[in-house]
Amino acid sequence: MCGIIGYIGKKNIVDVLISGLKKLEYRGYDSSGIAILKENKIIRHRSVGKISQMEASLPSEFKNLSSKDDCIGIAHTRWATHGKPSEENAHPHIDCTKSFVLVHNGIIENYFELKTKLKKHKFLSDTDTEVIVHLIEENYNGSLIEAVKKTLKLLEGSYAFVLLSKYDPKKLFFARKDSPLIIGLAEDEKLIASDVTAMLEYTNKFIFLENEDFGEVSAKDIKIFNLKRDSIQQRPITLVNWSAQMAEKSGFKHFMLKEIYEQPQVLRENITSRVFGEDIIFDDELKFKKDLLKKIEKILIIGCGTSYHAGLVCKYFFENILKIPTEVDIASEFRYRNPILKNNTLAIFISQSGETADTLASLRLIKRYKLPTLGICNVVGSSLYREADSTIYIRCGPEIGVASTKAFTGQLISLYLFGLYLAKIKKTTSHQRYIELLNSLYKTPTYIENILSDTSFLKHLAELFYSKKDFLYLARGINYPVALEGALKLKEISYIHAEGYPAGEMKHGPIALIDKDMPVVIIATKGALLQKVFSNLEEVKSRDAKVIALTNYGVESKSIDYKIILPETDELISPILNVVPLQLLAYYIADILGCDIDQPRNLAKSVTVE
Ligand code: AGP
Repeated sequence: MCGIIGYIGKKNIVDVLISGLKKLEYRGYDSSGIAILKENKIIRHRSVGKISQMEASLPSEFKNLSSKDDCIGIAHTRWATHGKPSEENAHPHIDCTKSFVLVHNGIIENYFELKTKLKKHKFLSDTDTEVIVHLIEENYNGSLIEAVKKTLKLLEGSYAFVLLSKYDPKKLFFARKDSPLIIGLAEDEKLIASDVTAMLEYTNKFIFLENEDFGEVSAKDIKIFNLKRDSIQQRPITLVNWSAQMAEKSGFKHFMLKEIYEQPQVLRENITSRVFGEDIIFDDELKFKKDLLKKIEKILIIGCGTSYHAGLVCKYFFENILKIPTEVDIASEFRYRNPILKNNTLAIFISQSGETADTLASLRLIKRYKLPTLGICNVVGSSLYREADSTIYIRCGPEIGVASTKAFTGQLISLYLFGLYLAKIKKTTSHQRYIELLNSLYKTPTYIENILSDTSFLKHLAELFYSKKDFLYLARGINYPVALEGALKLKEISYIHAEGYPAGEMKHGPIALIDKDMPVVIIATKGALLQKVFSNLEEVKSRDAKVIALTNYGVESKSIDYKIILPETDELISPILNVVPLQLLAYYIADILGCDIDQPRNLAKSVTVE
């Protein structure tokens, strides 16, 4: 998943492109590049490594480019899919005549077949992207928009690209299919980027391009076409009320730490914007009629990674309060397993970015079965946001750290409130239990602030255990997915191997791994299965493991070596609290190890390719 940005306007083009690119770095950061039009000649610079390395090595021709005319340029930060990270494979890619230059996010699946038909062209990279710019060169016959259109009809796979050409020096050309691309609208200047965070410094007004849209943009005008329709397309302008400052670290060492600390406000924002007395209001977000919701007999939840873990937590919550079966699937498995689907099933798709390829493909599959689809998403205007029948916005603000934290708790609170809303419609929960759960949710922001107010013990644990090579995370019931999430946090930012496992299942295999060098993190907060968890504690302790336990005041066990004491809450609500110390433990361990916490190796924030 790469980050692309284009600009046309009177600002310093290099500053705009580089600072915008840095806001996109979380999408991919193994190499980067920039190209601008200078005196009707394309100048280009690319570099392996971080954007700062590309910036530091910019040749003098990129310096002092102030001009009374509009400046125009494109830039790219890469997460390698085809061709290893190298200068030759870095974008922008240029054609043989040095007349066209292009940046791309996505995968051209038929690039090899296309490349073999471009024999007279000289390819300088191993990338799929380079095929596009040579096709533009091949198809150009005086009209750039026609050349783009002809080229798009040959491409298979996913793309979001921005093209610059010396033949039309006042316009950028664009196209998107299955990869996000957004136009930023500012007075007498325009931007195009993969994500709004790259453009917030200049505007809050955006056009989210739709699938198979293509077109041209100048400093003053935009023309959007669509491969399926010939006429010029009108697209709504979306106001995104995020400030540029929200996309900054605001004094925190890493975005991830800032976003962990933003969780109380995320929960409050979701609660206060939807709960009024005993009523939970989703009316302006849900386009489902209450009669349809009443008839729901099954829920299907689909997601990837952390979003999948949020779905697993909700399985326990929904089955408890809605008394209907709730199935949870990993999107990349679901989309290929020819699922057996029944009527009166609500399909819920969880995705922070709203652009995860496997989740979107699952959504499109389900829509063919005409089932009602609900998105749980953090990016207004994203593909999921627009393609699901209804979408609940989790109101987290931009989540920049690759490791998802506030989006996880934002997903949980949104889904919990939706579940209670549905329980009231379906009358599947007593009024007393409904109020109990609502009251517990109300307290979660304060409880999390309590946890965040003193993290010294978690830092101490990180000091004790940062050198360990393997961790095992155990839990039962609704906290089992939290064990999975805690393990995912540790492995994705510290590169330490960690497994989440159901505590009751541990003796069917993983117990063989346990010895004095394997720390075991176990969730032993109050709940119906606490005694069972204690039995598992004994099994682990008798193999000399060091036991770190999340628990509550008054929970005593001689088998616990290190107790992380959490405020006591309703068992069904406890995952929202229990995940926070696990996020922090992973963060502090990774920080001691000096890892690149916000941009871990090999990862990207939004996996827009399958
Ligand atoms: C979580 O920390 C990871 N970054 C990753 O598992 C992520 O949750 C997954 O790729 C799904 O992303 P999405 O929520 O944007 O669909």
